[in-house]
Amino acid sequence: MSTDLTEYKKQAGHKAVEFVESGMVVGLGHGSTAIWAVRRIAELLKEGQLKGIQGIPCSSAVEEEAQALEIPLTDLNAHPQVDITIDGADEVDPELNLIKGGGGALLREKMVAQASQREIIVIDAGKRSDVLGTNFALPVEVVQFGWEASARFIEEQGAKVSQRLNDDGTPFISDQHNYILDCDFGPIADLGMLDFFLKTRVGIVEHGLFLGMATDLIVAGTEGIEHIQAEV
Ligand code: A5P
Repeated sequence: MSTDLTEYKKQAGHKAVEFVESGMVVGLGHGSTAIWAVRRIAELLKEGQLKGIQGIPCSSAVEEEAQALEIPLTDLNAHPQVDITIDGADEVDPELNLIKGGGGALLREKMVAQASQREIIVIDAGKRSDVLGTNFALPVEVVQFGWEASARFIEEQGAKVSQRLNDDGTPFISDQHNYILDCDFGPIADLGMLDFFLKTRVGIVEHGLFLGMATDLIVAGTEGIEHIQAEV
């Protein structure tokens, strides 16, 4: 990864933490951008500039990292309402609709996003696109039982589907012990319709379209840092 790209991710992650206040329940997103926010929160807690934060990690990987950084953690059972979540995205359209799940954590991420009063998405400028699906295949989480039938159903909706594999060729398994299918639809003309079709199919657990969930977008790139708020 280029130093510039890493720097943009860091800038976006750090900017988002400016909206975190002491005493908040904070969703801790997964990925190489959101991790900068997690690290910054830990720093501010250590320095005493933030107090009483309780984090809800969006993946087991983030949970481990947050524990190592000594961020106090809680969960959705204890706190079904989250004040603010800072998370990354793989593709973002002008209405702040998102494709997420590149890291395979989309199910927990979507549950935490839905519970959040404010969902701040942090990205580098390369993630923006006019139409979702143009640059990133949609991740879809499916149960292992009958997964090829689920894949066929998605292909019938017009996608080229590939099962996500680890580097050693074994199937990638999500935190919830499901498979991930990367579904290349090309530019998606009707996001709402695709969301509906995927949700109606038993065996599909969740998909990576996050429609109308982001309240804020923080983009870092050659033009500096931009903060865009969703229209309400
Ligand atoms: C994790 O499942 C994803 O939704 C990530 O938030 C997304 O892939 C962005 O990750 P990066 O910031 O590493 O690109």
